[in-house]
Amino acid sequence: MVNENPLVEEKKAFDLARRSHLSRPTKLHLSGVSKAFRSTNGTTTLALQDINFGVKEGEFVCIVGPSGCGKTTLLNIIAGLDRAGCGDVLCNGKRVKGPGSDRIVMFQESVLFPWLTVRKNIEIGLKSKGLSREARRAKAMDFLKLVHLTRFADAHPHELSGGMRQRVALARSLAMDPEILLMDEPFSALDAQTRWILHYELQNAWQKTGKTVLFVTHNIREAVCLADRVIVFSSRPGRIKREYYIDLPRPRDDSSVEVAALAGEIMELLRGEIEKVMKEELDEGSCKECEVKCVGVSPDDGNSKK
Ligand SMILES: Nc1ncnc2c1ncn2[C@@H]1O[C@H](COP(=O)(O)OP(=O)(O)O)[C@@H](O)[C@H]1O
Ligand SMILES: [Mg+2]
Repeated sequence: MVNENPLVEEKKAFDLARRSHLSRPTKLHLSGVSKAFRSTNGTTTLALQDINFGVKEGEFVCIVGPSGCGKTTLLNIIAGLDRAGCGDVLCNGKRVKGPGSDRIVMFQESVLFPWLTVRKNIEIGLKSKGLSREARRAKAMDFLKLVHLTRFADAHPHELSGGMRQRVALARSLAMDPEILLMDEPFSALDAQTRWILHYELQNAWQKTGKTVLFVTHNIREAVCLADRVIVFSSRPGRIKREYYIDLPRPRDDSSVEVAALAGEIMELLRGEIEKVMKEELDEGSCKECEVKCVGVSPDDGNSKK
């Protein structure tokens, strides 16, 4: 019998997609990653402790956790901008030893060259790929089309809003065709309406390109809205507390009842962690766990390759 309920059909399609994700190869693999920093007054801060997870090809994974739990530190280690104190990071089976074009990072405020047009900002990165001028131009236009900005191809960055500039940055990152796109709170400086547009654009671009994405945020709704899987971190030292598979149909809206309900569940899990951060930031005592020495983790003075 044919099932004519479109929601049931959509759910079935999503479950199928999820199962097919699980059988895909692993793009990124982290095992036993820890990181400690030594501050100028000689104290040691354990930022990350024993992080183990993998990301499958084409998967969209969000890491969510309170401020200071090591999200940026982790992304920097994966990007090769910083070194882990102990543990291994493998991208496509190869150990990460430094930055590489297989891992592109998109930051909160992406830097575009102000003297270049939007199109040229995308084309310039493609020079390293050895493409002809025509091919670079065509590729830049394809990716501007993907983020619905072809009308602004000849505009300069200062003529665009903050949200549009982040869409250009997204197009530029995707045009480089990385193995994995790393995103560090890329929408946190935007207002709620603009973020809503960016969530739509990113979901659309991800579905069309099939890229593997690792996205970090402190915004739980954002994580639920975007991810196949949300990995929840504890407060510092960042450890994996729990993982959630999000099987809601796409495109998702961060104000939908379903997204809000799941975000509420994750918030409950994180409430105690956030209270810990508040106590620490309000000087009501130091966190004992953060002072624990991690065997085998050599503390870093924070100047390593940053
Ligand atoms: N270069 C550094 N030197 C010393 N401490 C650092 C350095 N970078 C990060 N930290 C500390 O490591 C912890 C994690 O920081 P970070 O990764 O930026 O957290 P998040 O991105 O989750 O807010 C914080 O306590 C922060 O103060
Ligand atoms: Mg951060």
